[in-house]
Amino acid sequence: MLMPEFSTEDYLLYAPYPSSSTMGHWLEETNQITRHILSNISEAEHLVPQLNILNPPLWELGHLTWFHEFWVHRDGQENKPSLLEDADYLFNSSEIAHEDRWSTSTPCLSDLLEYNHGVIEKTKQLLHNPVDTKTAYFIQLAIFHQDMHNEAFAYMWQTLGYPGPFPPFSPFVTPSILEDQVQTWIEFPKSTIKAGSDRGSGFIFDNEKWGHSQDLPAFAISSNPITNADYLAFLESETNLSETKPVSSPSHWKKDGESWFERFFQEWLPLNPASAVRHISYLDAQRFCELQKLRLPNEHELSVLMSQKQDIWQPSYLWEWTSSTFLPFPGFSADPYKDYSLPWFDGTYQVLKGGSLYTPDRLKRVAMRNFYQRDRSDHFCGFRTCLG
Ligand SMILES: [Fe+2]
Repeated sequence: MLMPEFSTEDYLLYAPYPSSSTMGHWLEETNQITRHILSNISEAEHLVPQLNILNPPLWELGHLTWFHEFWVHRDGQENKPSLLEDADYLFNSSEIAHEDRWSTSTPCLSDLLEYNHGVIEKTKQLLHNPVDTKTAYFIQLAIFHQDMHNEAFAYMWQTLGYPGPFPPFSPFVTPSILEDQVQTWIEFPKSTIKAGSDRGSGFIFDNEKWGHSQDLPAFAISSNPITNADYLAFLESETNLSETKPVSSPSHWKKDGESWFERFFQEWLPLNPASAVRHISYLDAQRFCELQKLRLPNEHELSVLMSQKQDIWQPSYLWEWTSSTFLPFPGFSADPYKDYSLPWFDGTYQVLKGGSLYTPDRLKRVAMRNFYQRDRSDHFCGFRTCLG
């Protein structure tokens, strides 16, 4: 693959941008969530196990604050001073090895909260007035980055069995929501769609560059996500059980007598048959599809569905796996934070669409492409299927 060019200017085309007061409101909201999370954990809960799906909570706070300061107030340059000594050494995720996040001595919580306060106050000062396109871009980047780290706190807390760290943005799916909606196959004729995002679409991430035509054969996609009932029936089916290595139940499920339970943070709840099944890896979703002669939608098919009014389809409130490997679109070039997408185009990541109950609406754009490795199931993810 040819190395894409590093673009220093495309972000100036990400107009229009929100007003200073809207960005101020978003910043206040996302930062309050982060500070609330950090203020509500015990000393013991700071010591999370060293797993590749976790980060120490204090490191997360330092990192997201460093990221904000680095791009909004330091022009992305290490030679410009930080409010925190050694901030680049400690908190630049592109530099510090993952395992070193446990061994490096991180400043204490109160020092990190003070650093966070200092940085965010500087941005609030900027937002008392209208800002230029460049500043608006980096402020939005920092807010969305923090939103993603808040979501990461939610799925890390789910992994660890801690209580939910903040209230979900979307209602957790209750039986009444899915039971009312009969599953149907929605048929879409052959078409040519617009994939990606054009100049002038507002804020976008570099992996959406640029809008382009995509031919799409006819397809039929499920109106509903796969539910717990669907998944349990599959697990217990002869089709699965006769496999040499049958798919096993998700790690947050347990069976007690004849009854199944699922863990939501620290709480074991009776398995709700009508809820969308969550925490299924791409690999297990693929097995589910293969053994039932179904398939996962690709990212374009799921985008088409998600562009429809919600009276014909049922959202899952989960990131939904697609069969699309995360790859650059034609015309890709990395934006100034070049590690957002570029290092992950190695063919081992799959695209997910939609958004979870811990994703704020401002990130739930149809063109948004999330991506995770195929064996990951710790984030709030689920799936739906296509015929054929
Ligand atoms: Fe980050």
